[in-house]
Amino acid sequence: MSRPNDANLNRRRLLHFLAASPVLAPVVSALDAMGVPNEVQFSQYRGNGEDGSITSPEEAINVFDFQEVAESRLSPAHYGYVATGVDGDLTVRANRDAFERFYIRPRRLVDVSNVDMSVELFGTIWETPIILAPVGSQAAFHSDGELGTARAARAKNHLQILSTVTSNSVETVTEARGAPIWFQLYPTSDWSVTKGLLRRAEGAGCPVVVLTVDLPTNTDNRNTLAYASRRDKRDCSVCHVDGFGFGAKPMFEGLEVSGLDGLMALDLTWNFVKQLKDATTMKVVIKGIVTREDARLAVEYGADGIIVSNHGGRAEESGRGTIESLSEVVEVVDGRIPVLIDGGFRRGNDFLKALALGASAVLIGRPYIWGLGAFGQQGVEVVLDILRRELRVSMQLAGTSSVAKIGPAALGRI
Ligand code: FNR
Repeated sequence: MSRPNDANLNRRRLLHFLAASPVLAPVVSALDAMGVPNEVQFSQYRGNGEDGSITSPEEAINVFDFQEVAESRLSPAHYGYVATGVDGDLTVRANRDAFERFYIRPRRLVDVSNVDMSVELFGTIWETPIILAPVGSQAAFHSDGELGTARAARAKNHLQILSTVTSNSVETVTEARGAPIWFQLYPTSDWSVTKGLLRRAEGAGCPVVVLTVDLPTNTDNRNTLAYASRRDKRDCSVCHVDGFGFGAKPMFEGLEVSGLDGLMALDLTWNFVKQLKDATTMKVVIKGIVTREDARLAVEYGADGIIVSNHGGRAEESGRGTIESLSEVVEVVDGRIPVLIDGGFRRGNDFLKALALGASAVLIGRPYIWGLGAFGQQGVEVVLDILRRELRVSMQLAGTSSVAKIGPAALGRI
């Protein structure tokens, strides 16, 4: 399958083929001169698999090594669901490309023998700023679903945010995590259903509800997913016994969903944030803000936090990477509430850049799903290990011994 956002993977395969050929090997050197990244050039050395892919999590050098294993193990439709953006996947690519417009200004002769990566969010201290983003339907990627993710989050002590459309209930995931998790809320078109979801999350001990506001309508424009689904010849009804609706998902159990139009509500306005605040004891964090205008309104309407996000390029095709949106949000929030971010974070340096621009913490989506799809819980654990290690090294090389010391001076703009 040829998908625009899989360009990297296809390039790897081509290079693998070229490098193996004595005739074509010089082409690889030419690509070297053109600046093709090492992870692509040396693709044939990635792991012990016949095709050069990794055969166990421990072989992975970076998080991209999990991507192709996940693709080969998942059905086309399920992998397509992970990979897809919307329209031409421009925003998925923009999320990655935007990091290249910032460079790091390292400081020398700083004692970095002890690096403190910890951050504080609503009174809880986390060892690192790396958070597992809400990703729905994880049973599609591994039979352990969100429970596998929770066990990995527990083993590595990371915050996990659970999607409304989780394959496992908030109660079982909280138990597997062994500590409170945050609950992500789709507003839904029916307030009584929404209230039911809130009660479940509160009952399970979630201290924070994350309201996702970037999908006012169903995304019928996920072209990559649509093509991938056509390629998938399996009988989906074997697993999707109740169709593709969300009414049968565990979080909707016991709720009257017959009057529900969808997970989104087209008529939602900022008053909903106030309504939500009044209806719950949980902190309310708004996910999906990308402009200073909305950041200002979020604070005005009482949000306790903001996540700068474009849903991993799966909502509007804005063409703007989230890291480009961060500064204007941080500026108007002015330290009053925490600002988190996600979208395309794959390397230690990516985290460093967001922290330098004022983010309190960073969510990852696809990387841990690649880990889960490839090797289950173990895969997620190693993805977290790699990203923690990369962030530590990035901080050491930049001469920053703690997150608090990563300021705007650590970055420049190209
Ligand atoms: C998501 N995301 C998401 N967000 C959300 O608020 N509720 C959800 O149920 C989901 N589901 C979901 C499924 C899949 C397969 C993906 C890839 C993403 C968005 C997610 O929380 C996050 O914003 C992005 O994944 C971050 O971008 P990266 O790290 O995937 O590039």
